[in-house]
Amino acid sequence: MKGLVLAGGKGSRLRPLTATGAKQLVPVANKPVLFYALEQLVAAGVTEIGIITGDTADQVMSAVGNGEAFGASVTYLQQSAPLGLAHAIITAEPWLGDSPFCMFLGDNFLGGGIVPYADRFRQEHCAAHILLRRVDDASSLGVAVLNGDGRVVKLVEKPREPISDLAVIGVYFFGPEVHEITPTLKPSARGELEITDAIQGLIDAGHAVHAQTIADDWIDTGKKDDMLEANRLVLGGLQRRIDGTVDADSTLVGPVVIEVGASVLGSTVRGPAVIGAGTTVQDAYIGPFTAIGPGCELSGCEIENSILLEGCVVRNVERRIADSLIGREVVVERSPLRPQAIRLMLGDHSRVDVV
Ligand code: G1P
Repeated sequence: MKGLVLAGGKGSRLRPLTATGAKQLVPVANKPVLFYALEQLVAAGVTEIGIITGDTADQVMSAVGNGEAFGASVTYLQQSAPLGLAHAIITAEPWLGDSPFCMFLGDNFLGGGIVPYADRFRQEHCAAHILLRRVDDASSLGVAVLNGDGRVVKLVEKPREPISDLAVIGVYFFGPEVHEITPTLKPSARGELEITDAIQGLIDAGHAVHAQTIADDWIDTGKKDDMLEANRLVLGGLQRRIDGTVDADSTLVGPVVIEVGASVLGSTVRGPAVIGAGTTVQDAYIGPFTAIGPGCELSGCEIENSILLEGCVVRNVERRIADSLIGREVVVERSPLRPQAIRLMLGDHSRVDVV
């Protein structure tokens, strides 16, 4: 079985972070969300992986390389435009050939990995095996309607009226039959070739489509709070590891990772939390569920339940920073300048909550 990982798309719900960066490279517990997909594929014995790229191809290629670091062999497949998940399959068809494959959306985070699902797909002969998850609100997702025997009878992309609480998650297993359907698809209202339409096409053509409802944690990391939720999940399983320096005036509580070259001075770090390589934390409080990227400089501040990307500076900020996602090389600093005011230099689509 081959792996097809999608790392294109626009990432509009994570702007401004994704105005310049790939959404699949936003870190969860200091590791790009995309890397979890690659690791989970390899853990399921899928080592021949094609990555679909879009405008951010350069960044994805420099982050993943040839896949060796993951124990995989990676081929990059450039999608001409973000025309949908089924279009990505059309793009990949020459590379996929008639191999069965697992398609994994690079911004989807799955708590328990894919081993049991991949094994089941290998045992059962079907044209598609999809994974479903009960959700409170499925209106922004693909949903499945099952009959009494648990067979999929209908799939609808982002239904306007609620027809089911079973969301189709972004990990799919396909046989080569899907290539008979994709050329027949028409663009949806949002101008994309929808994966749900491709699976519906398989059902309508009489192919076996199996569905499995899973209870694992699953997060489509499209928005800030979803990223923070994925971050909380991963940090929840953190093991304490101190590779950096912690002075005698500092207190570490619970599962805390201090990466190599990081220093914690006169501060309290209450885990689960990770402090990236080369980062300095001075006279500060870092609270639970926080991932601080590498090369940051934090002093005179309090931060919790947040993700800070590399190279950030936070200095002398009186109010605690919470529930925040802060991009690369951002500076948040108390200013001595008069008049006393909040002075902002923010990218398009930024969001600031002031108390
Ligand atoms: C896509 C699929 C949708 C699926 C979702 C999972 O949605 O079209 O069927 O439920 O991924 O993350 P999109 O992220 O393109 O809105």
